[in-house]
Amino acid sequence: MSKLKDTSVEGNNKINSVAIIMDGNGRWAKKRGLSRTEGHRAGAKVISTVIKLFREYGVHHLTLYAFSTENWKRPREEVDAIMELIYFYIDEHVIPAIKEQGDLCVKFIGDKSALPKSLREKCIEAEELAKDRPFVCNVALNYGGRDEIIHAANRAIADGHTLLSEELLSRYMYTYPSPDPDMIIRTGGDLRISNFLLWQSAYSELIVIDTLWPDFSRSDVDRCVTEYFSRHRRFGGLDPEDQ
Ligand code: IPE
Ligand code: IPE
Ligand code: MG
Repeated sequence: MSKLKDTSVEGNNKINSVAIIMDGNGRWAKKRGLSRTEGHRAGAKVISTVIKLFREYGVHHLTLYAFSTENWKRPREEVDAIMELIYFYIDEHVIPAIKEQGDLCVKFIGDKSALPKSLREKCIEAEELAKDRPFVCNVALNYGGRDEIIHAANRAIADGHTLLSEELLSRYMYTYPSPDPDMIIRTGGDLRISNFLLWQSAYSELIVIDTLWPDFSRSDVDRCVTEYFSRHRRFGGLDPEDQ
């Protein structure tokens, strides 16, 4: 919490909503002669620490990209291993954490209908445990930004709306009511968004670091936050000194 105080006096807004493209598990494994599945397993291990570190910075909404609508293109064995890993991660880590921490809740964003039934039910079990708590972790699972926008528009139409607005459509996004991310971090060095939060990223600060996701540590979190606070967010306007 003291870190939040230190950084917010520098003039930038405080940081409330962060999203992460957790990329680089495969390359991490390859460098070590391990299977891609081992890379995903190593990637899962750093998640709880990363959540804790961002919470220390005062973040209340963390959105993690776990599996995209395009990741089904991967070999069957890898997809099956990821689904199994996520199932056990929810069962062994997410559900106990929600039970132990009174201020934490989890939401799975994306199209759950295509997930294996057991995983879909596990996601719902975790979501139903707690809602509307101060710290929200959105897990993007079978998530695609384009899919989300189409899904939102179709739901709005089904509800009888005939004229869409930004404000209205925002309320139909999977991420609602979490605010748009202040910062989107991508690990693994690739300079692209890969269909993540296309609607919500309009004015997010993009931070790409070369660190592969399983190696993401406290120093990387600190580096990303420092970089964020060095940015001038103008939202299309002007810096105060130029007005
Ligand atoms: C991200 O790591 C995890 C998922 C997409 C599920 P990758 O598996 O994409 O790792 P790289 O990019 O091949 O290193
Ligand atoms: C983005 O990573 C998806 C996740 C991290 C879950 P990818 O590895 O799928 O992205 P591309 O294919 O390199 O763009
Ligand atoms: Mg990748």
